[in-house]
Amino acid sequence: MNDVTITVIPGDGIGLEVTEQAMLTLDGLGAGLDFDVLDHVNADTFLETGVALSDEDFERAGRSEGILLGAVGDPRVRDPRYARDVLLRLRFELDLYVNYRPVKLLHDQLSPLRDPAKRAIDCVIVRENTEGLYVDIGGALRRGSVHETAIDTEVSTYLGVSRVVEFALSSARREVCMVDKSNAVRHGGGLWQKCWHQAASRYPDVRRKHLYVDVAAMRLVADPTQFDVIVTNNSYGDILSDLAAQLAGGLGAAASANINPDTGFGLYEPVHGSAPDIAGTGRANPLGAILSGALLLDRIGRTAEADAIRKAADDVVARGRCTPDMGGELMTAQAGAALRAAL
Ligand code: NAD
Ligand code: IPM
Ligand code: MN
Repeated sequence: MNDVTITVIPGDGIGLEVTEQAMLTLDGLGAGLDFDVLDHVNADTFLETGVALSDEDFERAGRSEGILLGAVGDPRVRDPRYARDVLLRLRFELDLYVNYRPVKLLHDQLSPLRDPAKRAIDCVIVRENTEGLYVDIGGALRRGSVHETAIDTEVSTYLGVSRVVEFALSSARREVCMVDKSNAVRHGGGLWQKCWHQAASRYPDVRRKHLYVDVAAMRLVADPTQFDVIVTNNSYGDILSDLAAQLAGGLGAAASANINPDTGFGLYEPVHGSAPDIAGTGRANPLGAILSGALLLDRIGRTAEADAIRKAADDVVARGRCTPDMGGELMTAQAGAALRAAL
């Protein structure tokens, strides 16, 4: 079996700790992955040089079969250009236009919801990943005065919205819910509505619904079982995916795949960040990173191994063999080892 080269960017903080566990797990499965670890892509490099991901590293990552990323972010770096330089550059320039964030309750005990009938969340958030408020178009004027003005432009394009709603409709199991704020955000909202109706007409068999984002947030908490696939813009997807992750047992176990469905290329990363508050304490939950590895395996056709990881994750959580955020007492490396033992 030929090795598939995966670029690994552990990043900062707990990114390093959880990525190590993801690599050990993928290695242990004998899935034939060869890791090209770019451990110099981090906040130290950005602080030293002003650039964290060089053109050479970017091209190297793009030539591999996929990217596994831990997290980028460091309290010493206030400059948003850092995340833009690494994470958003990869998402934008590799045109990874779908941020696929599955959300499934890991164990009943972990749900914060009072009513057991409402706990079984099992949905996917399909977040538009290349436009919206993240495009970095804007500016500031009259800095330092009471007239200081800051402008960030939200960009929605016909192509960008059409392709992401198309992906959501084509991956629906039961229903797709499009979430926007078209009652207040007139131009972008109008374009989302238009693209949604046009694409939806090609999927007559998929049940469809539309919610404004405020109500979608409320309904997710009231009864998450009513959702199957949610498609929404970059910012709403960012916010709803942290909310949904917590409903499913915790941010530490939430996985994601940034993908271009046309090329098949993907960047796989936990939904969480570098968690400076617990970095270095051994309390980081490795499940989000490991389950992101399972999404990578899905993409390269190793679905049996991916399913085995997901089953092992359910198993360790059910037995309390997990980190403190999920009610266990294990350290990061022990939790990773427990999952591997359950495979
Ligand atoms: P965060 O996701 O890092 O942490 C939020 C809270 O959740 C913290 O209390 C943290 O301890 C906890 N948490 C997160 N992951 C956990 C895990 N695996 N196990 C146990 N607990 C976990 O969000 P933040 O504190 O807002 O951001 C910290 C830094 O990470 C910032 O610089 C931010 O920009 C960056 N960030 C990066 C990514 C990414 O690289 N994809 C994603 C989100 C945030
Ligand atoms: C995420 C993160 C990033 C985002 C940040 C770090 C720029 O929160 O992947 O959800 O907002 O996309
Ligand atoms: Mn986020």
